[in-house]
Amino acid sequence: MHNLKITVPSTEQEWAPPRYCVVVPTFEERDNVQPLFAKLQAVMPDRGWEVIFVDDDSRDGTPEAIYQLMDQHFNVRLIRRFGRRGLSSAAVEGMMATAAPIVAVMDADMQHDEEVLPKLLQCVDDGADVALGTRYAQNGSLGSWAQSRALISRFATVVAGRVNKNPVTDPMSGFLAVRRDLVVELMPRLSLIGFKILLDILMSSPGKLKVSEVPYHFRCRTAGESKLDVNVSIDFLLLLLEKKTGRFIPARLFLFAAVGGSGLLVHLLLLRLMLSFGLSFVVAQSVAVAVAIASNFSLNNVLTYRDRQLRGWRMIGGLLSFYAVCGIGAIANVGVASFLYFGNERWWVAGIAGAVIGAVWNYVASSFFTWRR
Ligand code: GDD
Ligand code: MN
Repeated sequence: MHNLKITVPSTEQEWAPPRYCVVVPTFEERDNVQPLFAKLQAVMPDRGWEVIFVDDDSRDGTPEAIYQLMDQHFNVRLIRRFGRRGLSSAAVEGMMATAAPIVAVMDADMQHDEEVLPKLLQCVDDGADVALGTRYAQNGSLGSWAQSRALISRFATVVAGRVNKNPVTDPMSGFLAVRRDLVVELMPRLSLIGFKILLDILMSSPGKLKVSEVPYHFRCRTAGESKLDVNVSIDFLLLLLEKKTGRFIPARLFLFAAVGGSGLLVHLLLLRLMLSFGLSFVVAQSVAVAVAIASNFSLNNVLTYRDRQLRGWRMIGGLLSFYAVCGIGAIANVGVASFLYFGNERWWVAGIAGAVIGAVWNYVASSFFTWRR
């Protein structure tokens, strides 16, 4: 028997669950997180809200800067993820970690105008499913964003606008508030690929959503760098593809097929070139095949299997195994095609069937042998 009781130093105020949660995904934002929190404090009430940073293993001292905030403020939290990247999945993981029924997502780099944040939260409080900050409405703008970035954004906005059944003026916005329950409900349908969580939510909802839009002027980033790169653009296209095909075509298979198509092009171009230099057909065809396979290997390595990307010496082994896989694929191709052809099938049916069998083999076998988990 003992009387030991755990005592916690009394806080100034009684604890109550927050009503609002601001999720801030971070990747290398050391110099932004503290100024951002100060801005949030300036526009939010004293109590009833929290901020959750979701950091993907930043090495620049971002987590340490957030711990400093946590030492001083009761309403700051941090989720650290390792071995994973992605703005959309980080945003949703933050949303799932709060007691607050109303959640917002905001960039750490202060490009989103914090003055608009309370309005977004209020809209959802007033009954909207989703509220977004828009740059494409009266009293909204892209600010002095670089021309090239503005152009890409406009283009993506048009593309997204065409395929989205819950149309909004700024589907590419990453500044939003939403009912947490809606996200929980949509969870099995969300793709969580890449950067565009708002678009993912809008396109995943089977029904019409109640959406509010609040205009704001997009600001320029002052500290740190943008993480937008080619991968982010590919993720955007994959997100649209997956949403439109209802996941019928897995993104990976689609990429593999596209790379295969590019290989055919490389093959024909090289063949033509070498023939024009007077090489014998057999030599030219052999070299073209070898180069096309190597080209397919490198593209698949950086695109289709970039989550299992082979680097350094492992690329050599990977290339050799890919040659072996494709060699067997070619034998299967010719075998099946000949079998059908001599069984009196039409020549083009036999040819296509052989090619499809070969491609499917290459896809399945390379995911097992070349880019095994
Ligand atoms: N956790 C995590 N993981 N956060 C990330 C990652 C990641 O892999 N990549 C980027 N972030 C964080 C950044 O630290 C930043 O807080 C925010 O996501 C936006 O990243 P930026 O690199 O600044 O992107 P941007 O300026 O090109 O685009 C943003 O602004 C657009 C306009 O509102 C994105 O938020 C878009 O979604 C948004 O539409
Ligand atoms: Mn940014």
